Amino acid sequence: MAGVSVQAFRRQGRRYGAGLVCSEMVSCAGLEHRNERTLGYLRVGRDEHPLAIQIFGSEPGVMADAARMVVAAGADIVDINFGCPVRKVTKTGAGATLLDDPDRASAIVGAVADAVDVPVSVKMRRGLENGSRACLQVGPRLVEAGAATLTLHPRSARQMYTGEADHSLTAELVELVDVPVIASGDVTSRARAQSVLATTGAAAVMVGRGAQGNPWALREIVDGDGAEPSREEVAAELILFIRETVRELGEHRASGFLKKFYGWYLGRGRFPRPFKQEIVQLETTDEVVTRLFAAAPGAALVVEQLEAELPDPTDEILLDSMPISIYGGG
Ligand SMILES: Cc1cc2nc3c(=O)[nH]c(=O)nc-3n(C[C@H](O)[C@H](O)[C@H](O)COP(=O)(O)O)c2cc1C
Repeated sequence: MAGVSVQAFRRQGRRYGAGLVCSEMVSCAGLEHRNERTLGYLRVGRDEHPLAIQIFGSEPGVMADAARMVVAAGADIVDINFGCPVRKVTKTGAGATLLDDPDRASAIVGAVADAVDVPVSVKMRRGLENGSRACLQVGPRLVEAGAATLTLHPRSARQMYTGEADHSLTAELVELVDVPVIASGDVTSRARAQSVLATTGAAAVMVGRGAQGNPWALREIVDGDGAEPSREEVAAELILFIRETVRELGEHRASGFLKKFYGWYLGRGRFPRPFKQEIVQLETTDEVVTRLFAAAPGAALVVEQLEAELPDPTDEILLDSMPISIYGGG
């Protein structure tokens, strides 16, 4: 998820039971021009694998070059974005618009699949307009072109995130293709995951918003362990997330980026609303961490334990030819 699936989020997802995690979408044009911020998306931690890195773009050749770069960075799967509904992306002919151009979409998948030795997957929406069934026409062609799996988020691009994901389309897609289909959309609990798997025949579910500030949802989905986290656990996970994100993005970017996460972690009745509001207004992440420790002193021990279990960040794979610094910037 763009603006969400930073490395800290992915590593956390793996710790809580996700079988596979995926990067934010990475612009193939940004990679082509060696844009420093884009290259920053390619930092891969040792404990993230298996990891998919998602790329977006509209030119088959440029997408193929981008795919080679993300595999060199450590991706186990190259995922192609045919789902992004945001105008900034669709006006360049990338993302969900490609569902309206099956020839080009197939050419992209073919070029990417030829370029790399790892599996290539595609993430799609149902189509551009409400009620569209474009994914059912395009999906089988993408498999023919070399897609090893398809993930369907059965909302239209026009819907953005409103309404409900219509997983009856996921079931139809499963019938049409002989590769695993992953169901994405509104999976927030074990019961929901089981019902989507049972009614669609999908091979797996993908969890997005349900895991934002709530890795415990993944544990519940995977293990059925629905225990609510204690305040100390919530504060500790948030503190670890803050520290890792500052390391990844630098204090300047991280302090703004993290604000939405404060609401996600501290909401759900876990902390009083005025506390959440106070945290969001603090300027530096150091102040936030200090305030969290003051509110949940027992978190210190939990953070210590969590940090002791994490691999050394200097173990990250770095690309010699790319200006990727593990500390800050990017
Ligand atoms: C903030 C945000 C960013 C997202 N970014 C991406 C993205 O970069 N690539 C992608 O394939 N889907 C992206 N999605 C869509 C999700 O992967 C997922 O398909 C969708 O949110 C429905 O699943 P959910 O109900 O579990 O969140 C994004 C969703 C959100 C809310």
